[in-house]
Amino acid sequence: MTDAAPQPVFLKDYTPFGFLVDQVELNFHLQPTATRVRAKIAFRPNPAARDRRFFLHGEDLTLISAAIDGSPVTPEITPEGLSCPVPEAPFVWEAEVEIAPAENTALEGLYMSNGMYCTQCEAEGFRKITFYPDRPDVMAPFRVRVDCDLPVLLSNGNPVAQGAGWAEWNDPWPKPSYLFALVAGELVATSDRFTTSEGREVALNVWVRPADQGKADYALDSLIRSMKWDEEVYGRAYDLDVFNIVAVDDFNMGAMENKGLNVFNSRYVLASPETATDRDYENIERIIAHEYFHNWTGDRITCRDWFQLSLKEGLTVFRDSQFSADMRSAAVKRIEDVMTLRARQFREDNGPLAHPVRPESYTEINNFYTATVYEKGAEVIGMLRRLVGPEGYARALDLYFARHDGQACTIEDWLQVFEEATGRDLTQFKRWYSQAGTPRVKVTEDFKDGTYTLHLEQKTPPTPGQGEKQPQVIPLALGLLSPNGDEVLPTTVIELTEARQDAVFEGLGAKPVPSLLRGFSAPVILERDSAPEERAFLLAHDTDPFNKWEAGRSLAREVLIAMVTEDAAPAPAWLDALAAVVRHEALDPAFRALALRLPGEDELAEALAERGTVPDPLAIHAARERAKTAVARHLDPLWPGLYAQMDCPGPYSPGAADAGRRALRLAALGYMARLDGGARAQAHFAAADNMTDEIGALSVLLETGGADEALDRFARRWGHDRLVMDKWFGLQATLAAPERAVAVTRALTEHPQFTWKNPNRFRAVIGGFSANAAGFHDASGAGYDLVADWLIRLDAVNPQTAARMSTAFETWARYDAGRREKAQAALERIAAREGLSRDMGEMVDRLLAAGRIAA
Ligand code: BES
Ligand code: ZN
Repeated sequence: MTDAAPQPVFLKDYTPFGFLVDQVELNFHLQPTATRVRAKIAFRPNPAARDRRFFLHGEDLTLISAAIDGSPVTPEITPEGLSCPVPEAPFVWEAEVEIAPAENTALEGLYMSNGMYCTQCEAEGFRKITFYPDRPDVMAPFRVRVDCDLPVLLSNGNPVAQGAGWAEWNDPWPKPSYLFALVAGELVATSDRFTTSEGREVALNVWVRPADQGKADYALDSLIRSMKWDEEVYGRAYDLDVFNIVAVDDFNMGAMENKGLNVFNSRYVLASPETATDRDYENIERIIAHEYFHNWTGDRITCRDWFQLSLKEGLTVFRDSQFSADMRSAAVKRIEDVMTLRARQFREDNGPLAHPVRPESYTEINNFYTATVYEKGAEVIGMLRRLVGPEGYARALDLYFARHDGQACTIEDWLQVFEEATGRDLTQFKRWYSQAGTPRVKVTEDFKDGTYTLHLEQKTPPTPGQGEKQPQVIPLALGLLSPNGDEVLPTTVIELTEARQDAVFEGLGAKPVPSLLRGFSAPVILERDSAPEERAFLLAHDTDPFNKWEAGRSLAREVLIAMVTEDAAPAPAWLDALAAVVRHEALDPAFRALALRLPGEDELAEALAERGTVPDPLAIHAARERAKTAVARHLDPLWPGLYAQMDCPGPYSPGAADAGRRALRLAALGYMARLDGGARAQAHFAAADNMTDEIGALSVLLETGGADEALDRFARRWGHDRLVMDKWFGLQATLAAPERAVAVTRALTEHPQFTWKNPNRFRAVIGGFSANAAGFHDASGAGYDLVADWLIRLDAVNPQTAARMSTAFETWARYDAGRREKAQAALERIAAREGLSRDMGEMVDRLLAAGRIAA
């Protein structure tokens, strides 16, 4: 091993691989600590490449033998791979390596989880399985044989043959190595069949451990709905005879789209009313769809290199959002998506980790599966669709699939099909892919003689490595309301392209109230001074459901900020407006529940920092508590009726309608608990017959006090269920009162069931605590130290998950000097560790740069 600093990779340095692969044959003899992998790979010189050096990636592999065209060779081996002289004509490479899946705690490559073998190869895990050009632009058909005495043996593609202790699979569709998968275990399937629009009969299986049998029905149902939806909306049919999904308990991410063999974190497959919440069901539906949709946007058409990641992830997130909107309420889905975008992507874009949707360099690609690549990438596609219209979008996608099927593509290829299909020049639009940072759109207005003018200015702040930014194309959807609440201009899209421009509306009888950025038509921050009365007016009258919610949200944000900075009382205008929404029975209960949710502590800290005020996490927490109690009191007469009215009689259904009612009911329960000492919440907890209600009531008790007995009861009841216990761990760390949070979290890490090598459990406790803003940012620095200690510990066994969790420190530079000093010290302590992973090394470097930016 060398100690040299890991070198970054640059987009501009891309060159094609010197060889094409015609066929891959793999043979696995599975053994926990001595698995043998034999590979037979047909290579041929790539006419499109100049560089003919034969280098195969390979990490942590013991080479047993290697041969070219049947003659043994002795390659030169480094920690990154091997090189070897090769013929100038087509040749067959054969190699046998040994690996130890049972010792693989990084959960990348071939590893073991609960006695079962599984793989995770994206982005660069295949090189831990055998020597190979492990890059997405090398695509090949794979044939796989697995020898193992476990009963279920799976790989990509279609089954060829099987017997006791072996199975053979063939995947005819050329694919990059990151989509390879293998699973072996004692598993049971929940199965169905699907006939595609092209008449293909497909066998569908969701594989789980025997103990989890019976919890895969919803995942299977979601799969069938996804397959149907992709045929109807995108004209994309499935292309193999089987589709397998496997649930594994130890998994770094949510799920993975391996061709014909999706591997899922078990939390996004397993569900029963007693163990899964409404949110879990919603996530399962969405993630099953997401991975299924990758079959076309990712597998059939993949990425040329990892800089193009948003080509598949941004697009597939956009597709899964459309699907969820169709399955549930489009308005509620949009609001939820924007809440996540702001909480994660705006936060990222505004801090030391900011990067463009298509980054220009990276050191460890695993660190770039980010909110920007995913969520902002999806927003960019939403804007594109708005600009070219649904028909233009459909034409562009048809062209994309027709032209690029079987290829590894770039963002340029993607934009090109839009230009050709719609005739639109996207040169300026492309800046969304290259410029980091969230654009600010400043709006002022005047009204004279029936003419209303909006003055619009856009500006994007500097981000690490990017100073001046050029104006971007911003589709601004807007409507105008007359003072009596009528809509005088229905939704219209204005395209901002200049740093400053005006929009003029003539012939108006009175000065209108503008409803700007309807549907959140662009991922920007709108800056406009508006009176609380105007926001309350929009909350009552806006016809755009997103902006109706947004009016209430921004009003709440203003009120809370005044409470923090001026010790103000909660504005009565806000409380009255909220009461009106809650009382409005024609409104979707899910929408009303969202309106009752206050902006989070981190969002408030960000808003304060944006205004040049150093946020005080404790003051923010306290103000939020006061605001909740004020809402509880002001709406006091409404709660019991609402609570009774939102009951869901009959058997549990995870559908949006009942879920919305439960959400509103639990919101009412939460406010009631501030007035009745939690009596109703205790009763609700005791009577709950589904996990949404059980965990909902438990959360209320944790927030308002008196949860101890319920926590014990919950642990006794669910101690055997990993996924349910993750909730128990997570809630306590997230909801602990600021002054107790460090101690509570430390105690959780000493709990016998804190199996910290399991990513879900680690995320529940350490991630949960990091989301407890006032606790994590404890002035003593104890929160920073606690997280840093655990990141160091996890980094040694699982760099990928550890590095992801380091984003807890993303906002450290916005706080006061005392906190900054302590956070910086914690980060420096991590950075100084010997043997730190490349993943974590890159993250702490970038995080520490925040100090230099802020200084
Ligand atoms: N391709 C990813 C999974 C992945 C990410 C593997 C990073 C390796 C490294 C998959 O399609 C994905 O995006 N999964 C998301 C969930 C999805 C619904 C956004 C995940 O795992 O969080
Ligand atoms: Zn994905």
